[in-house]
Amino acid sequence: MSVTQSLITLPPDLEPSKIPRHVAVIMDGNGRWAKKRGLPRILGHQRGVDTLKDLLRCCDDWGLEVLTAYAFSTENWGRPRPEVEFLMTLFERVLKHELKEMMEKNVRIRFVGDLTILPDSLQKEIAHAMDETSQNEGIQFNVATNYGSRQEILHACRAIALQVQQGKIEVGDINESLFESHLYTGGVINPDLLIRTSGEMRLSNFLLWQMAYGEMYVTHTLWPDFNRQEFHQALLNYQKRDRRFGKVNDSDN
Ligand code: FPP
Repeated sequence: MSVTQSLITLPPDLEPSKIPRHVAVIMDGNGRWAKKRGLPRILGHQRGVDTLKDLLRCCDDWGLEVLTAYAFSTENWGRPRPEVEFLMTLFERVLKHELKEMMEKNVRIRFVGDLTILPDSLQKEIAHAMDETSQNEGIQFNVATNYGSRQEILHACRAIALQVQQGKIEVGDINESLFESHLYTGGVINPDLLIRTSGEMRLSNFLLWQMAYGEMYVTHTLWPDFNRQEFHQALLNYQKRDRRFGKVNDSDN
């Protein structure tokens, strides 16, 4: 059964008031998925796009506000050149093909990361898609591209230091909300839940600041095989968590 044909409405065992507002995903395992089938790695990425499209539709159907996907890290430039070139072309092609559906579904797309070193044609397509969808009021879809959390934090530090140097703000004005506003994700609520596929238990330089109190869910499923049923399981697991944000529950007092 195709993922799009099943679980269209919120499954009855999920509590609507406890649906996470923001889910982030580390889409790991595309290469292994392809290798297992004797296919080139790039076909794993191609299939990964279908999974991501289905997940975005699902998040929209189930009432989430934000989906953030880790599409390309600052470290991914170290991959073989043909794979990097394939990914850049893939991002561009996906943006071109999917803009119509994003407009129909009222999706607001935003790219987070240092976009300045991406190929010019991709930068143009990104700017166009972000501009076209900027007034949409449906789900926000963040695509982390050439994203690295340490670099993001350094970038924010430099921007704030410059403002102090120019006398625009005082050192005492620097607080969490000012700092957050200088991150690539400025203005976006922090993720409630981060899902990582393929079994690895690490953040891999993704949303280090933003995930301070985010919940994590790791599945051994490879990204191209991740579907609504798996997402359903992740949300069931999330809804059982006791989110204390460093405090104690009233009942424990
Ligand atoms: C990690 O799997 C996956 C990536 C580095 C690329 C993910 C990108 C997409 C699915 C395309 C998204 C497109 C848009 C426009 C949002 P891996 O290659 O590290 O897998 P492995 O660990 O099995 O080698």
